[in-house]
Amino acid sequence: MAITQVVGVDIGSGAIRAVEVSGIGSKRPSVVRFSTMPLPDGAVHAGEVLEVNTVAAALKQLWSTAKFSSKNVVLGVGNSKVLVRDFAVPKLSLAEIRESLPTHVQEMLPVPVADAILDFYPISESPSDTGPVVNGLLVAVIKESVLANVKAVQAAGLNPIGVDLIPFALTRLTSAARLVGNVAHIEIGSRTTNVIVTTGGVPQFVRTIANGGHDLTVALADRLDLSLDDAEALKRHLGLTGAAATPEQAPAVAVIREITAALLYSLRDTLGYFANSRQNDPFAGVVLSGGGAQLLGLADAFSEVARIPVVLGDTFGNIDVAKDASRGAGSQAGLNVALGLALGGAAA
Ligand SMILES: Nc1ncnc2c1ncn2[C@@H]1O[C@H](COP(=O)(O)OP(=O)(O)OP(=O)(O)O)[C@@H](O)[C@H]1O
Ligand SMILES: [Mg+2]
Repeated sequence: MAITQVVGVDIGSGAIRAVEVSGIGSKRPSVVRFSTMPLPDGAVHAGEVLEVNTVAAALKQLWSTAKFSSKNVVLGVGNSKVLVRDFAVPKLSLAEIRESLPTHVQEMLPVPVADAILDFYPISESPSDTGPVVNGLLVAVIKESVLANVKAVQAAGLNPIGVDLIPFALTRLTSAARLVGNVAHIEIGSRTTNVIVTTGGVPQFVRTIANGGHDLTVALADRLDLSLDDAEALKRHLGLTGAAATPEQAPAVAVIREITAALLYSLRDTLGYFANSRQNDPFAGVVLSGGGAQLLGLADAFSEVARIPVVLGDTFGNIDVAKDASRGAGSQAGLNVALGLALGGAAA
């Protein structure tokens, strides 16, 4: 029997975020409930659970306070231990292609094939000298990097029914589905930035950059000799524009600009790389999300650097949300990954 109600669980460095969706696979899925549970420092690093018991306890608390009705959980992965590459294989059924992956991919992987979870997402078909081929994205996830996350979910008495790529989750949001042409979805987390380009909603290109909002906080703290908490507060207060800065805060503004510029240039180059590989197809726009994207002035600055319209993603878009969905905890901010994971359901 198909599972139609699941909870997408995004285990970030700072918090666990969960969104329960019903009607998965139907025309009108809807949000039943959502909630967030903060995590102590060090429990999770770049998406990998380091302290299984701490995360399991937080998950239990999340389920008891927010009263999710389903125990079926879809987890996300998205860090530098995920490899996504263009890949072409002779045309076969998708099941046959998936089965044949281990024989094709060893030379691309940094670990033995047996230590990776492999998948293939078809994009297009084309002829070749040896017959038709299917072009798509090969996804390889190092098993070890998700093991502890799965264990934490199980230790909380929940049932992990799937592990999906965080970048793919970003493309399922209703606000994303309305966009036409090449669109880049960029999620700036604490230590990781995920980039996915879709064309007409279909994933074409995925990159993960090991850099995020926390790296800026650390740079501020190091260079100005501040505590991490003070650096974090200063960063949020000043933002990229530094409009509210006093003269004494000029050095902080300079650090914020320098570190952020490096991230924005690498994002621009990543998008440029994709455009070049596709005859310079232009981008219709960029959708930014993640806590790091909340830095004041960041969206405008990126638009200027990349010369592409940039918007901040609207988490729930036009999906139906139950009236009492937020029982347990407040805001919708940052829930886009968890929602996208749930919308993908058990398909992953
Ligand atoms: N208003 C703000 N201004 C600037 N930065 C902010 C703001 N709000 C949050 N951030 C930054 O967002 C980052 C956290 O983002 P997010 O919550 O998406 O990460 P995460 O999911 O917990 O971590 P990850 O996905 O990397 O494991 C932190 O570095 C934080 O400083
Ligand atoms: Mg995150």
